[in-house]
Amino acid sequence: MKILVTGGAGFIGSAVVREIINGSRDEVVNLDALTYAGNLQSVGLSADSERYVFEQVNICDREALDRVFQQHQPDAVMHLAAESHVDRSIDGPAVFVQTNVVGTYNLLEAARAFYLQLSEEQQQNFRFHHISTDEVYGDLHGTDDFFTESTPYAPSSPYSATKASSDHMVRAWGRTYGLPILVTNCSNNYGPYHFPEKLIPHMILNALDGKALPVYGDGLQIRDWLYVEDHARALLTVLKNGQPGETYNIGGNNEKTNISVVETICSLLEELVPNKPAGINQYRDLITYVKDRPGHDVRYAIDASKIKTELGWQPQETFESGIRKTVEWYLSNSVWWKNVLSGEYRLERMGSGR
Ligand code: NAD
Ligand code: DAU
Repeated sequence: MKILVTGGAGFIGSAVVREIINGSRDEVVNLDALTYAGNLQSVGLSADSERYVFEQVNICDREALDRVFQQHQPDAVMHLAAESHVDRSIDGPAVFVQTNVVGTYNLLEAARAFYLQLSEEQQQNFRFHHISTDEVYGDLHGTDDFFTESTPYAPSSPYSATKASSDHMVRAWGRTYGLPILVTNCSNNYGPYHFPEKLIPHMILNALDGKALPVYGDGLQIRDWLYVEDHARALLTVLKNGQPGETYNIGGNNEKTNISVVETICSLLEELVPNKPAGINQYRDLITYVKDRPGHDVRYAIDASKIKTELGWQPQETFESGIRKTVEWYLSNSVWWKNVLSGEYRLERMGSGR
């Protein structure tokens, strides 16, 4: 299979690219605009494979998308390119509408035009897999509720509203035009190459630097954490074995309050880096409660029984094993995150090609 992965220089997209190159014989066309969140170093040695090609293209550029489809003739699209950070969407929603809504529309139209040229057999095998989030369902308040594939949409933030909009378009293109679509909605990911604006890497790197660990509101909001490589394996399982037209929820069944995640990171750092920055007694002393995020979702929790029973996917990491691996990864990969923090990764664009 030749898979066109959009957003393959991002956190989850790069894990998908690495999984395809290392775990299969499939080919990858990594299409990414390289926004602030895109970093080709995250693809790692997979970029040296003969089965890997990079295209620096914005999904809002329809002409460039048409050229990529014609040139590479993909068998499937895995669409991960998006603006992904909730806080940024609150500060500036316009780019979220542009990329997540208009960009997805462009990609759907380019995929549809390409699909119409395929033979009947190729059409049957073609897939458009849209990678989405549990945030489209809004939030949960009771402790016994879970998001299922039939939970009504109720997005709270500009980010989740634009993702919800893109999910609706993908399903509409499936129903109206017969495009063989798949939709997945996943909970919070964590792991290697996570951009340091997000909770877990932000806390690890601030603690190592002796900076405050800003916890929004009371810190009691709950997220359901999934190790990013488990997500990548789930996505490839859905792409290969999922039923066209279907939605699959993906989650790790690891519900944690934000404050407990921050405390776990502090404990791991006490063990792994006992030599603390000057003036710091314990990492946990850096925890600082700050003003809450506007519209902050209280609790997310995924019911992943459909993908487990129908497609046989299971996560391999527990939160305990995954968070330890993650902290250890940041400790051994300071070149990656120092480049990100200094902004140097943006100056080191490698351009198109392998
Ligand atoms: P990310 O921000 O780390 O990466 C996004 C990537 O998309 C970057 O490489 C960026 O350069 C690229 N991109 C952005 N705008 C683009 C455009 N206009 N054209 C082409 N490329 C563009 O995001 P992520 O955390 O890896 O998330 C990937 C996808 O998974 C998103 O669609 C997100 O909504 C979804 N998702 C994320 C999580 C999570 O916990 N991170 C959970 C569930 C679903
Ligand atoms: O649920 C899936 C979603 O998870 C994805 O769709 C998003 O792309 C991804 O960014 C993530 O969204 P969250 O808003 O849950 O992730 P974030 O890491 O920004 O925040 C996690 C929680 O931690 C959230 O309740 C806000 C809180 N937080 C975050 C930061 C950055 C803090 O308390 N302090 C912080 O500094």
